[in-house]
Amino acid sequence: MGATPPAPATAPVNLADHEALARQRVPDAVWAYWAGGAADEHTLRANGAAWSSWSLRPRVLRPLQGLDTATQVLGQPCPTPLLVAPMARQVLAHPDAERATALAASALGVGLVLSMQSHTALEDVAPLVGPGTGAGPLWFQLYHLGDRGHTLALAQRAHAAGYQALVLTVDAPLQGVRDRERRAGLPGADTAPLPHWPTPHPPGDPAQLLQQAPTWDDVRWLRAHAPLPLLLKGVTHPDDARLALSLGVAGLIVSNHGGRVLDTVLPTAELLPAMADAVQGGCALLVDGGIRRGTDVFKALALGADAVLVGRPVLWGLANGGARGVAHVLRLLRDEFWATMALCGVTRVADIGPEYLHHIKNTNRSRLE
Ligand code: FNR
Repeated sequence: MGATPPAPATAPVNLADHEALARQRVPDAVWAYWAGGAADEHTLRANGAAWSSWSLRPRVLRPLQGLDTATQVLGQPCPTPLLVAPMARQVLAHPDAERATALAASALGVGLVLSMQSHTALEDVAPLVGPGTGAGPLWFQLYHLGDRGHTLALAQRAHAAGYQALVLTVDAPLQGVRDRERRAGLPGADTAPLPHWPTPHPPGDPAQLLQQAPTWDDVRWLRAHAPLPLLLKGVTHPDDARLALSLGVAGLIVSNHGGRVLDTVLPTAELLPAMADAVQGGCALLVDGGIRRGTDVFKALALGADAVLVGRPVLWGLANGGARGVAHVLRLLRDEFWATMALCGVTRVADIGPEYLHHIKNTNRSRLE
């Protein structure tokens, strides 16, 4: 993801084409904010490359009629195992911002996780997704900023508005040191109000940030008081996965925040097998980071994920054409995943397993043989 490919001469046919087109459309500061990773961007680059380090082992000549990409996560129907990752400040991509993303996701049967840092109020997004209309799950992402009253009030608003789960992001008590972003400066529209963010904004003082950083006690508390199932996003260590499971969380999202917070964390495709072993199906398991192809989605499921989240490509689609652009990005990914299932000889999401994968770097992985 470091060097952006040249813009395509034709309409975009894949997510990389959308990336190149979007790069031409958005100001440098916005691009730095979207594309940048923490520090030397090792994790950012590795996230994408790690999916390619798994090779597919397709089966042939199986009957393919009735192929179905539908699945369930937390008992909620997913027409396809895809969700839009929570991403802040979508107005930087398009004036329709989160509304456009929500419309496109719901039309394509893709789930949506609305960021707490959205410019659009959660109550204005929910009706656009319309549960029961073939849409995927609708979840709300939270940062806990030290004020339990504020966190709980947001959780209750999300519940009342029809959201089906809460996603507590736990990997970013501090902002990552993103060099590209620091060089380019803050994007212009960054000062637009954020309706779910407490005022005054959290302090810039690192000591105060540490003081309000969430802990396992807050997870225990939120789990006990929140009116919705709770997922943790940004868990990467199997011991933390077991701890979360013991506290009764409904799900985990294996994520390094798209390489944006702590550099040199392992890429998520490498983390996933150990995380799946740790939870043993005891809660929902999702993953994000560098997923750009239908084959990546298939590999994530083969490694134990129930569904995947896609981040930056949604912003590229939004910049390229509002709701239509997002819909195009999601359709490309959904159709590629469908084709991958067919070409691997699998007709049910539940049948996607490690037997369809081979690791290029490590052929000794016994669970894959
Ligand atoms: C993010 N991400 C993020 N995560 C989160 O929990 N809350 C947030 O508000 C944001 N905001 C945000 C803004 C931007 C511009 C980006 C690129 C990312 C992280 C996001 O949810 C997800 O973990 C990664 O983006 C996934 O990686 P890919 O698909 O972008 O490689």
